[in-house]
Amino acid sequence: MPWSPIRLNDGTEIPSIAFGTWKLGNGQTTMERVNQALEVGFTHIDSAQVYRNESEAGDALRASGLKREDVYITTKYSGRADIESSIRNSCNYLGVDYVDLYLIHGPDLAVPDIPTMWGKMEKIKDDGLAKSIGVSNFNVQELRTLVASARIKPVANQILFHPYVLSRQAPVVAYGARHGIVSEAYSVLIPITRHPGGPLDALLQTICQRLGAEPEQVLLAWAKAKGVVVVTSSTKKARLEGYLNAGDLELTTSDIEAIDAAGLAGANGRR
Ligand SMILES: NC(=O)c1ccc[n+]([C@@H]2O[C@H](COP(=O)([O-])OP(=O)(O)OC[C@H]3O[C@@H](n4cnc5c(N)ncnc54)[C@H](OP(=O)(O)O)[C@@H]3O)[C@@H](O)[C@H]2O)c1
Repeated sequence: MPWSPIRLNDGTEIPSIAFGTWKLGNGQTTMERVNQALEVGFTHIDSAQVYRNESEAGDALRASGLKREDVYITTKYSGRADIESSIRNSCNYLGVDYVDLYLIHGPDLAVPDIPTMWGKMEKIKDDGLAKSIGVSNFNVQELRTLVASARIKPVANQILFHPYVLSRQAPVVAYGARHGIVSEAYSVLIPITRHPGGPLDALLQTICQRLGAEPEQVLLAWAKAKGVVVVTSSTKKARLEGYLNAGDLELTTSDIEAIDAAGLAGANGRR
């Protein structure tokens, strides 16, 4: 099984690759792109209040004919209203009774403090509006504060994760692993989308030639090897198929070590 589900600390399972709706805008085309991802075989949609396209994702889910329990839906509290109204609005826009995973989009939204905001997240889970609860963009110190006060542990922390930020983010992933918090990696493809010309390029080409793969597939396979859930996106059907097929790519230990080393070598100034 290429992208096998990962078991979370609350006993549920999360599909290990997600289709994200961040840059998709809104309107009919957005709905069609989410629908395309579902048709290709994605079963995990990652949205957020601030992306302003939860209703398009909801339309796509209904148009797909998939059963509610066959799609895993993540959305995030982005501070656009109080959290109690936000989760209800998100469920209404998505056309669902509950989301599978609800995240605090960033630590700055945890006001007046992390324990108080987390108490509200716990109530959302208690009320059945989210099966699982977690956070996003938390660093180790913020996770520590959260774990120290939580009645219900967060299941996941969604973070920026690609080879050029490995030195900064590896401790966050390691802390999560020690405490049963799965890391979710977004923007894994930044080395090719934002920073072409870095020390990874030649290495990716060599690995791609050997495996008959595309660079984006190698980067996703690298993230998978780190044990994280991958949150990615594309407007193109062929690329989405490639992302799913990347679950079958067999990177060697030396491929992964070489990508880590090139990432560390090129870290300076590449965010
Ligand atoms: N929690 C947070 O704060 C946070 C922040 C950022 C993102 N996210 C989540 O993560 C999702 C993915 O974020 P992302 O878009 O930054 O992820 P990404 O997986 O790094 O990038 C996806 C983009 O890469 C492009 N791409 C793929 N292969 C390429 C290639 N060979 N050459 C050039 N471009 C290529 C795709 O463009 P095409 O459409 O042309 O294929 C697509 O726009 C978001 O939608 C969101 O759900 C969360």
